[in-house]
Amino acid sequence: MSSGLKVAIAGPTGAVGHALLQVMAERKFPVRELVLMASSHSAGSTVTFEGESLTVHEVTAELFQGVDVAFFATGADISSRWIPVAVAAGAVAIDKSSFYRMDPAVPLVVPEVNARDLEEHHGIIASPNCSTIQLVVAVAPLIRRAGARRLVVASYQSVSGTGQKAMSELETQTRDVLAGKTPVAELYPRPIAFNLFPHIDDFDLEGNTGEEIKIVRETRKILGLPTLPITATCVRVPVFISHAEAVWLETEEELGPAEAQAILSRAEGVQLWEGNGYPTPLDAAGKDPVMVGRVRRDPTVPNGLVLWVVADNLRKGAATNAVQIAETLFGVGT
Ligand SMILES: NC(=O)c1ccc[n+]([C@@H]2O[C@H](COP(=O)([O-])OP(=O)(O)OC[C@H]3O[C@@H](n4cnc5c(N)ncnc54)[C@H](OP(=O)(O)O)[C@@H]3O)[C@@H](O)[C@H]2O)c1
Repeated sequence: MSSGLKVAIAGPTGAVGHALLQVMAERKFPVRELVLMASSHSAGSTVTFEGESLTVHEVTAELFQGVDVAFFATGADISSRWIPVAVAAGAVAIDKSSFYRMDPAVPLVVPEVNARDLEEHHGIIASPNCSTIQLVVAVAPLIRRAGARRLVVASYQSVSGTGQKAMSELETQTRDVLAGKTPVAELYPRPIAFNLFPHIDDFDLEGNTGEEIKIVRETRKILGLPTLPITATCVRVPVFISHAEAVWLETEEELGPAEAQAILSRAEGVQLWEGNGYPTPLDAAGKDPVMVGRVRRDPTVPNGLVLWVVADNLRKGAATNAVQIAETLFGVGT
């Protein structure tokens, strides 16, 4: 750690924070000094970065002094409280939480799609929701070529999307069911082991969940299509890592499956599974590309396409996207 940037991570003990440390090491992000911050609960514990054991501190304003880039892998409450402090200390903040995403003054960025929006930042850059990131990486190249009329998404989302505690809940419930015990739901509204439910985040007055609203709003903002009709149904499934999505895209112009596959085979950040090939959550876990398979015609509408899209929600859906934003901003990296 002799040259490079002074980097802070808020939330290094969580699911996204853990992936962030791994991705930064793999991509050789130029770290000169690393400051790790979490709650009082984790203060004094250690995490490993590039073989070195580093101490986690409780967040304080002083810790942001001299920091070039601060990654926030924390909930919206912590991000909203500490990001202004980090920015006032001179850091650029890259936020994984939902707090700043729809703020018109804050760019919401997926580098493969709208890296240009980074030019407009005022110290804060938001990274989108995991289910939005993989969706826009897959559909943006098609929309660039043929325009968009309507987008429909059904998601199948892993428990790591809720963080570390939810992964433990799936493990405990699975063990309980296999031992003949009744699983107890603590974090989730229903048991998740050997089950699934269309309920991610709270319901609004119209019956949509917070996750569904995030997909609609964030996708429109990133694509720069504020009125694009989008509808989503988000389902939590008993999978540890990676989200899958069935996507129905209606384009303005004709775009058959063959041309769509040709575009996706060249698209940045996409790994195409040709023909009837399809990725699963296990294929995507631990990897960065957004995997797209089963590209076919939707015969029920003009210019309709159906896609199957899978990505690691902790990596491209969170950590990798945040590191790519930092690499683009500072002109470093792979
Ligand atoms: N999981 C995903 O796939 C995903 C994808 C995209 C975005 N996100 C977003 O990324 C953020 C982190 O998610 P996660 O899944 O990693 O959650 P998580 O596993 O629950 O981790 C939360 C982190 O926040 C820290 N924290 C909690 N209270 C704190 C406090 N008072 N002060 C400072 N740090 C505190 C925790 O530290 P302690 O060890 O001290 O509790 C932990 O490091 C959330 O905003 C989430 O919505 C998650």
